[in-house]
Amino acid sequence: MLIDSYDRVVDYLRISVTERCNFRCQYCMPEKPFSWVPKENLLSFEELFLFVKVAIDEGIKKIRITGGEPLLREDLDKFIKMIYDYDPTIDLAMTSNAYLLKSTAQRLRDAGLKRINVSIDSLKPEVAQKIAQKDVLADVLAGVEEARAVGLKVKVNMVPMKNMNADEIVDVLEYCKERDMTIRFIEYMENQYASKEISGLKSDELLAILREHYEFEDEGFDGASPSRYYRMKDGYRFGIIEPYGDDFCKQCNRIRLTAEGNLIPCLYFDEAMSISKSIKEGDIAAAAEVLRDVVKNKPEKNRWGGEDSESSSRAFYETGG
Ligand code: 5AD
Ligand code: SF4
Repeated sequence: MLIDSYDRVVDYLRISVTERCNFRCQYCMPEKPFSWVPKENLLSFEELFLFVKVAIDEGIKKIRITGGEPLLREDLDKFIKMIYDYDPTIDLAMTSNAYLLKSTAQRLRDAGLKRINVSIDSLKPEVAQKIAQKDVLADVLAGVEEARAVGLKVKVNMVPMKNMNADEIVDVLEYCKERDMTIRFIEYMENQYASKEISGLKSDELLAILREHYEFEDEGFDGASPSRYYRMKDGYRFGIIEPYGDDFCKQCNRIRLTAEGNLIPCLYFDEAMSISKSIKEGDIAAAAEVLRDVVKNKPEKNRWGGEDSESSSRAFYETGG
């Protein structure tokens, strides 16, 4: 088992398989980065899988594939199948913008993927286009429907922003509720890459809007999820993620791996250790050592909002959020 210095069991690994993306979301990657990580620095799926085996052997029980947009990497389903075949009990999930999901959902499901989180920031084509800077809505919705049809469990993320999609909070929630998909509203996290004009809705503003339409109760955090959940009278649950808080840090069970092999103990920290060299040399013992070190160095809580408040300079598209 992997246990950190604050007695938290670390059993959740997020793997960003690429930082590249086919969207240019205003809050994430509004402009194409000046340079991408050179392809030769990326770990191959075979190399990533070597590390995944180490991680599972050390106690990882849940793996989420993220990006950038993970479906931009060819043969992602084969990577998922490698993990599934090694240990079918792993809770295998992915976060995707759903744009390429219609044609890939069945293969992903057959490979062993169980769950998927997608973003729906708007149900209006022109607003979705404004946010992602591309005409995406029809493909995204087709991808979501296909994912559901093949039996993937789908959760939806929405980032509510003033003068953008704040007037659609109830519509997007209803879209999800009708399909029995959980929606989580994510407070916009400021970062140096995002468009400067964005102004995110805070959770109290969001809750005020939702209270005009629904009655619900605060159920608090659910396990290690950073989301606080609310339950409506009819049983439907929605979530709100307040990234600036640190309430969820007490339960944090996750570490992150980037596509070039940096292992990151906390999203909001710049510290990372590379497993790239040991994996490329096939030195499994050394990779396991780095993993245990990173877990040992996992900070107690994120550095946002505190006295020495600082945020990471790492982009979310590099770490998969
Ligand atoms: N603030 C809040 N959420 C963000 N996401 C990406 N960048 C940000 C940000 N700056 C969300 C996307 C996606 C998830 C992976 O992260 O909406 O749903
Ligand atoms: Fe791409 Fe997701 Fe970032 Fe949008 S939020 S640019 S879809 S990685």
